[in-house]
Amino acid sequence: MVKKKILFVCLGNICRSPAAEAIFTHLVEQKGLSHLFEIDSAGLNGYHNGEPADSRMIKEASGRGYKITSISRKVDQISDFQKYDMLIGMDNSNYNNLKRLAAKTATEHKVYRMVDFDTERRYTEVPDPYYGGREGFQRVLDILEECSNGLIKKMML
Ligand code: 4NP
Repeated sequence: MVKKKILFVCLGNICRSPAAEAIFTHLVEQKGLSHLFEIDSAGLNGYHNGEPADSRMIKEASGRGYKITSISRKVDQISDFQKYDMLIGMDNSNYNNLKRLAAKTATEHKVYRMVDFDTERRYTEVPDPYYGGREGFQRVLDILEECSNGLIKKMML
């Protein structure tokens, strides 16, 4: 069985994409589908390389039963685009940067926005919560839960 490889990508890889990775992993495990997926996350700027996720995001996610364990790493301009089947950006800037990088390996077709999987089409992007308060982190989790459910439904079609 060839696994579907999914990489969630934000700017710093300490808030949104680690949460997306944890939520999607949780959902896949809950459905007994772990054997079908390889899931990771990465950031576009590398400023927090080697660091655990932001403690505020770990706390808010833990309140909903998600365990965030990822360590921040920068997206690789070549190997990540070759390895992963889907690279999913959190906001429009992440998406545009991923598209630009994908051109180097002719893999633009692998690049998506997280909100592409919001079946209700209610969200335009997953906003950066870094400089805001607790509500921003909660809103990110709301959006990510919605989109992760949509993504898994799409994958199971
Ligand atoms: P993230 O949030 O992209 O959701 O991990 C950010 C965290 C840190 C920075 C930017 C965004 N930063 O530039 O330090």
